[in-house]
Amino acid sequence: MGQCQTNVLRKTKGIFSNETQAALQTINCQDYAIHIGSIEQSLANFLQGRDYSSVAVVVDENTRRHCLPLILDVLDSKHLTIVEVPAGESFKNIETCTLIWKKLLMAGFDRNSLVVNLGGGVIGDMGGFCASSYMRGIDFLQIPTTLLAQVDASVGGKLGVDLEMVKNIVGVFNNPKAVLVDPKFLKTLNSREVLSGYAEIVKHALIADSVMWNKSILLGLDPHKIDSDQLRRSIQVKRNIVEQDPFEKGLRKILNFGHTVGHAVETVSWNTDNPLFHGEAIFVGMICETYLAYAKNLISKDLCDAVCRALKGIFYRKDSVSRTEEIFQIMLKDKKNRRQEIRAALINGIGSAKYDVILTREEVSESFQYYKKL
Ligand SMILES: NC(=O)c1ccc[n+]([C@@H]2O[C@H](COP(=O)([O-])OP(=O)(O)OC[C@H]3O[C@@H](n4cnc5c(N)ncnc54)[C@H](O)[C@@H]3O)[C@@H](O)[C@H]2O)c1
Repeated sequence: MGQCQTNVLRKTKGIFSNETQAALQTINCQDYAIHIGSIEQSLANFLQGRDYSSVAVVVDENTRRHCLPLILDVLDSKHLTIVEVPAGESFKNIETCTLIWKKLLMAGFDRNSLVVNLGGGVIGDMGGFCASSYMRGIDFLQIPTTLLAQVDASVGGKLGVDLEMVKNIVGVFNNPKAVLVDPKFLKTLNSREVLSGYAEIVKHALIADSVMWNKSILLGLDPHKIDSDQLRRSIQVKRNIVEQDPFEKGLRKILNFGHTVGHAVETVSWNTDNPLFHGEAIFVGMICETYLAYAKNLISKDLCDAVCRALKGIFYRKDSVSRTEEIFQIMLKDKKNRRQEIRAALINGIGSAKYDVILTREEVSESFQYYKKL
């Protein structure tokens, strides 16, 4: 695997004005870079010296309204096509891809064109998949506008769409030309979406960044005030892991911490009056799986209690684990299982994790009891 480095580009002159702009932080990956900071600056830098015949910006109705105005000045309107698709997971499917492909075709997009995906994980996964398959693959740029997409979805090359209610079942691994992250997009994001993305930041800290856990999260970091440095730390955790194991053969599985229970809890909540957001369910999952780490002798009871109290302080909903049997049945169908055994990634300290830990039904039930009594 290629070596990754992080460097900070010190204050540079703005491309469109003489004002000095804030520093861009750059995380270099194998064949692309993630730039964190002013989107006007990073996008202008990216486009400089590249001569695309046409550029499409894929948006949904929310990112068209809130995010597109922040980048329009940097794009050349003569060769620009805006492709708007409906917002939400229920539109992350092949039918919407067909709309995107048709729009590119009708606008005369050739192999020397660029697709800019401006949105959350839905736009990034789907727009990236469309670009990767249009004319057998054209350049694309990820501009993630939700916290979840900035620290998770836009890093790691997984692209695709859902089919028949099965999430991400059609897709490819492919990297963008660059990922441009700017915390100012997050200002228009609603609180539940912010918390949902924050779950991934907390997860990254617990599995691989004890400094972030001890110095920021335990001290009550406000997810609405995440800055470029904190975004960079979190993105680096995911980048470091996926660079070592791009196709999830081993280490990358630790990114599933909180997701074995969390995904099942989320799915069960969809049939209730109060469905959980993905990240909310991951907070539930992280508490149960921290208990499971204790049950497996991977951490002490004191550490388990301390971590779970901190997680509870961020998000807690007692009734989320009450439909025990349904949750358990969904866990049994998890893609990560082998031979009908439930396998999870669990922490074995702060900032360290282990994957493929086999869980028994009794241990899982105990973790739900622990959650309810917390
Ligand atoms: N590829 C990966 O590795 C990976 C990892 C995690 C999740 N995902 C995928 O990401 C998706 C979830 O992503 P998400 O949580 O970003 O959901 P999303 O893309 O549906 O965005 C959530 C909502 O926020 C709105 N929105 C986006 N940016 C906004 C902004 N700046 N201001 C106001 N509103 C804004 C969107 O229109 C949408 O309504 C799922 O489909 C999941 O499968 C992919």
